[in-house]
Amino acid sequence: MVTFPPPVTTAAAVDLSVQVGSLRLRNPVIAASGTFGYGIEFSHLVDLNLLGAMVVKGLSREPMEGAPAPRIVETPSGMLNAIGLQNVGVKAFVAEKLPALRKYAVPVLANVFGNTLEDYVEVIRTLEDAEGLAGYELNISCPNVKCGGLQFGSDPAMVSQVVGAARKAAAKRPLWVKLSPLVTDIGLIARAAAEAGADALTVANTYPAMALDFRTGKSRLGNPTGGLSGPAIKPITLKLVWEVREAVEIPVIGLGGVERVEDVLDYLCVGASAVQVGTASFADPAATRRLIDGLDEAVSGAKSFTIKDIVANFSGEIG
Ligand SMILES: Cc1cc2nc3c(=O)[nH]c(=O)nc-3n(C[C@H](O)[C@H](O)[C@H](O)COP(=O)(O)O)c2cc1C
Repeated sequence: MVTFPPPVTTAAAVDLSVQVGSLRLRNPVIAASGTFGYGIEFSHLVDLNLLGAMVVKGLSREPMEGAPAPRIVETPSGMLNAIGLQNVGVKAFVAEKLPALRKYAVPVLANVFGNTLEDYVEVIRTLEDAEGLAGYELNISCPNVKCGGLQFGSDPAMVSQVVGAARKAAAKRPLWVKLSPLVTDIGLIARAAAEAGADALTVANTYPAMALDFRTGKSRLGNPTGGLSGPAIKPITLKLVWEVREAVEIPVIGLGGVERVEDVLDYLCVGASAVQVGTASFADPAATRRLIDGLDEAVSGAKSFTIKDIVANFSGEIG
């Protein structure tokens, strides 16, 4: 048994570092893709060098304008978004955004997406030639236009194909694969990704959902549907992280509704090596920094536990 919150003494700098495959992170708090811009936008609010790592906005082969407004609405304990994967395109990212990021010591991962295998491969090829990235995160929650629009991430055979192709293209750097939560058996999908060469798995993306105004009969977003994120999804995603942890040996990164230090510890407890923080950065742009400080205090102030104890304490038994 560990006690939380711990009796707080003085906040001393403690070792919060974690290992995610070949990457050593100074702490387990990572800014999530699409919620932290290209990183630079947040540099006046958060010292980027303090973060465990940072995953930039999803990058496609060509620039994308994204979905019509409104793109974000608040829902009970959460948020619904339909951004439509707006981004500057991989070439402009390399030419215009990456040079500024190179000034920081924080590991930067590029989130990559596409609608065909060739799209994914092409984006990674362009990034392979650029300096200043620590790795890639493959977003496989996208429709495969050559397969009737079925999501890459929903079928083990397609997961194998897309991760295998990306693995070949990503010769230089670690490859994380970000899973879709919209699957029947996430363990099956996780194994397919691991066997095809993923170095770590991010669990998970947003949950397809709707918000409408019954008076007008219209969606509250510019699109009919969007992706649900925030505290509302944390218990569901926590279970998915646990299931993936049981299914594969490679590191798992928990992502969904992390808002408080307790959320970070819960994910670590079920076996995540690190967490990502998404929606929380909208309510509080310095949320990542706050969580790192909170973790530091929790661990340095606790006589009764360390992060290792918390992870070791999880029994996985019900009740
Ligand atoms: C506004 C917004 C934009 C997002 N854009 C991306 C994206 O480009 N690529 C991606 O893989 N995930 C994207 N996501 C998903 C988040 O990275 C994360 O998986 C999800 O929001 C769940 O975490 P949270 O509850 O901490 O927000 C986006 C989420 C939001 C809210």
